[in-house]
Amino acid sequence: MRRRTAIGVLAASLAGAALPHAALASVPTPYDWTASPPFDDRQAFIDWMVKNRGEDPGYLGERYDRFLQLIAHHDVWDTRNKRAFLMVPRERFVTAPNLTRAYQVHYLDIGFGVTITGPHSVARMTNSIDVQKGERVLEIGTGSGYQSAYLSNLTDQVYSIEIIKPLFERTGGVYADLIAEGYTEYKAIQRQNADGYYGWADAAPFDKIIVTCGIDHVPPDLLKQLKPNGLMVIPIGPPGAQHVLKITKRTDTAGAVTVTRSDIYGGAIVNFVPFTKLEGDKIVGTHSG
Ligand SMILES: C[S@@+](CC[C@H](N)C(=O)[O-])C[C@H]1O[C@@H](n2cnc3c(N)ncnc32)[C@H](O)[C@@H]1O
Repeated sequence: MRRRTAIGVLAASLAGAALPHAALASVPTPYDWTASPPFDDRQAFIDWMVKNRGEDPGYLGERYDRFLQLIAHHDVWDTRNKRAFLMVPRERFVTAPNLTRAYQVHYLDIGFGVTITGPHSVARMTNSIDVQKGERVLEIGTGSGYQSAYLSNLTDQVYSIEIIKPLFERTGGVYADLIAEGYTEYKAIQRQNADGYYGWADAAPFDKIIVTCGIDHVPPDLLKQLKPNGLMVIPIGPPGAQHVLKITKRTDTAGAVTVTRSDIYGGAIVNFVPFTKLEGDKIVGTHSG
């Protein structure tokens, strides 16, 4: 039995809402950074999550099956990232019409012309920047909130910027509901409705930056706000031909900055929604030339 009732799903679907705002079951056990569900047995994983997180066994089974696919495709490889993927209820970040597809491989429509990134890309991009606990991470493109939720299981310092105001507000409601239920790790996520091209100067510098919209160059302010030896992952290229690059910023003793790039998909094209531009309070075009 899924936790959302048919009436709840229908109502949310009609309203175009992400999730019903009524509080659902509470998380039975307080969040513990040292606690992890078992990785190597489907039923043991489901039992642990039901006991400690109070989640639905049906979705947990789907999450575990996707987890095995992530491992098989080398999209997740370290223990902390495996735990992060398994701890996040992706079904709470998709829109009601997509609930049955929450754990499918593809990105999904979340309204406003944008998407929740597919689970394989979220895992590979996040694992590539090797986030350590205590590191400060900036995400550009909060969207559904799923990526930041994943990050909040890796570090307690997550900053995320979303350009679409009503989406920013809706995702705020999703987090508020989840925090009220006991997903206290999401309290670490600080959010802003702004144009992420300019980064978040007041919170900089960042150890890691993850960009979830595509652009044809690295935004200069993002590079500036990255710490020396910091890592950024960003989809770069023209629409339809983007490569997800890992950028390493190095600063020598004289202060000269150099940048190295590697393609985390070995040359394969992976497309993202465009990195759009805010003029006043209107989204006008993109930051690509
Ligand atoms: C692929 S989608 C969402 C991915 C998101 N991380 C998730 O898990 O749902 C990319 C997001 O980037 C946002 N975006 C595009 N341009 C932006 C900008 N200049 N500043 C901030 N967010 C931007 C879009 O509105 C969209 O929500």
